[in-house]
Amino acid sequence: MKILVFAGAGISAESGLNTFRDKDGLWTKYDINEVCNYHNFLNMKKDASRRKHLFDFYNEIKVSCDKASPNLAHIEIANWQKQYGVDNVLVVTSNVDDLFEKAGIKNVLHVHGDLQKSHCTSCQTTWNETYFNHETRCPKCSSRQTKPNVVFFGEMAPKYKDLNRILIKKRKKEDFLVVIGTSFNVIDAEWLVGGNRHNTILINKDESSADGLFAHKLIGNASNKIFEATAIINN
Ligand code: OAD
Ligand code: ZN
Repeated sequence: MKILVFAGAGISAESGLNTFRDKDGLWTKYDINEVCNYHNFLNMKKDASRRKHLFDFYNEIKVSCDKASPNLAHIEIANWQKQYGVDNVLVVTSNVDDLFEKAGIKNVLHVHGDLQKSHCTSCQTTWNETYFNHETRCPKCSSRQTKPNVVFFGEMAPKYKDLNRILIKKRKKEDFLVVIGTSFNVIDAEWLVGGNRHNTILINKDESSADGLFAHKLIGNASNKIFEATAIINN
């Protein structure tokens, strides 16, 4: 590996997608406990209107994601993969949009799932979906406990294990770690950096308490600061 990218919602902001915790973020407009809480979701089994409200929320974001195009930050990371090779540039994201894939990036690890699929919480099957219907049953086990393939609060995130393996086993001391557009509320900065500040780059619009963990701190828009990251990497 040469470059490990971890990206949060901030990288997609300039593609017109709302982040979660900025001043116009999704969690300022929607009740997180009604649309993204696993225990509440399980209790919605017998309440079709609450369940429909949750599904409508994900349909709305899915429509925005489907309409959105990658911005210069996604495209520049695709260029890194072209320059250094797919196996040498690994992209991990907590985003559920598919803007990395639209930019041509391969092997993206979505640790919070994606909006391209539905998921059965009974048998763990996932399947491609174009529209989330709250009445959809699992095609494999017929369970009614189906949901958009997005990890909710209070739900296991199975892909965290893969991220951990990448951070501990694959990331070598000299590799670059480029973290972009996350508030670190859900994914801990210490987990990502892991005590190895060498060749770490943070790109965020706002300053945060995690800034000191990184060797290079680039404060500003991802679509602009990404080129400073390229200069550091190619130096
Ligand atoms: P947040 O909304 O918490 O944070 C967004 C970050 O992006 C902030 O640090 C902003 O400074 C930064 N930002 C905003 N616009 C930017 C831009 N144009 N360029 C660079 N940075 C910019 O989003 P996440 O940290 O990704 O999980 O949120 C983590 C998780 O919380 C999400 O995956 C989601 C949410 O609940 C689930 O839904 C399970
Ligand atoms: Zn099932």
